Amino acid sequence: MPLIRIKKSWEIPEKEITPEKVYLNRRRFMKNLIGAGLSATALSTLTSCGGNSKTSLISGAATLPTIGKFTPNSNFAKVDRPITDEALATKYNNFYEFGGTKSIWENAQNLPTENWKVEVTGLVKNSRIYDIDELQKKFPLEERVYRFRCVEAWAMVVPWIGFPMKLLMADVEPTSKAKYVRFTSFYDSEITKGPGFWANGYPWPYTEGLRIDEMANELAFFAMGMYGKSLPKQNGAPLREVIPWKYGFKGAKSIVKIEFVEKRPATFWNTLIPNEYGFEANVNPEVPHPRWSQANERVLSEGASWSWEKRPTLLYNGYGEYVASLYS
Ligand code: MTE
Repeated sequence: MPLIRIKKSWEIPEKEITPEKVYLNRRRFMKNLIGAGLSATALSTLTSCGGNSKTSLISGAATLPTIGKFTPNSNFAKVDRPITDEALATKYNNFYEFGGTKSIWENAQNLPTENWKVEVTGLVKNSRIYDIDELQKKFPLEERVYRFRCVEAWAMVVPWIGFPMKLLMADVEPTSKAKYVRFTSFYDSEITKGPGFWANGYPWPYTEGLRIDEMANELAFFAMGMYGKSLPKQNGAPLREVIPWKYGFKGAKSIVKIEFVEKRPATFWNTLIPNEYGFEANVNPEVPHPRWSQANERVLSEGASWSWEKRPTLLYNGYGEYVASLYS
């Protein structure tokens, strides 16, 4: 997300970084960097982030851990375009705790996922702390293929594995006072600092939120896996939100706390840049971002981003039949 308003002099605008993320042609990649006037230091930093060749992307993808039994949900078996290559979806990420580029997957391996616990608290009848293994066994895992639309106007299609949020709601029973829910991501400045030192002063930890009726919607999903395996750390292991009708930043990764509250909670990007990132953040081609149009999206694929297939963006990311009534 090109969200960094106060740039250090050495930082590269997102529009210049993006094409290099999945470059097949390393020589052309280097030439472009030099052409962009980058210093030798910036060059080595970027190239050492890895993921620039198809070979390295694919070999990385094969090492993901396996996940337990899951059932494909036939209502969400496919969408109007092919599933994104696993190697791309797992090597082109936004996870600002681990750095400000799309190439954070290696840094994200520092995320300590052992003995993970998720606290569910606030305005609920049964406040509790779930052990991640317990969570995985308690709710039957299903696979859903969803379109994913980032607010930066790139898009992908991912086969997620997880369970609908409404199952967790039924387990903890929010009280009638609960109107919103807030999700908090793991944060430890010692672990996550990586190249994230540029983000000092950001409102960490990463938080996101939903209205309670949005959380209860059929589509709202907790993912624990993708592509038939456990979630890789860079994609938000061991538990993340997936809200397919909203921009991708609504999907907090590596969740440690879920809190039911009465008032609309403060959230990360909305606190940082309220005029650019609203709380609701429904995908809508007719509401431009203050700095770019949302009418179209680029489908994540190999090569430079300008060569990616361009498609019209759909209202609610094409999920109007499930969610339009929430906003009437
Ligand atoms: N969650 C945390 N904790 N930190 C982040 O920086 N980035 C968000 C979202 N969740 C983010 C996060 C944004 S901007 C996007 S587009 C998606 O994660 C990217 O998910 P992906 O890397 O699995 O594609």
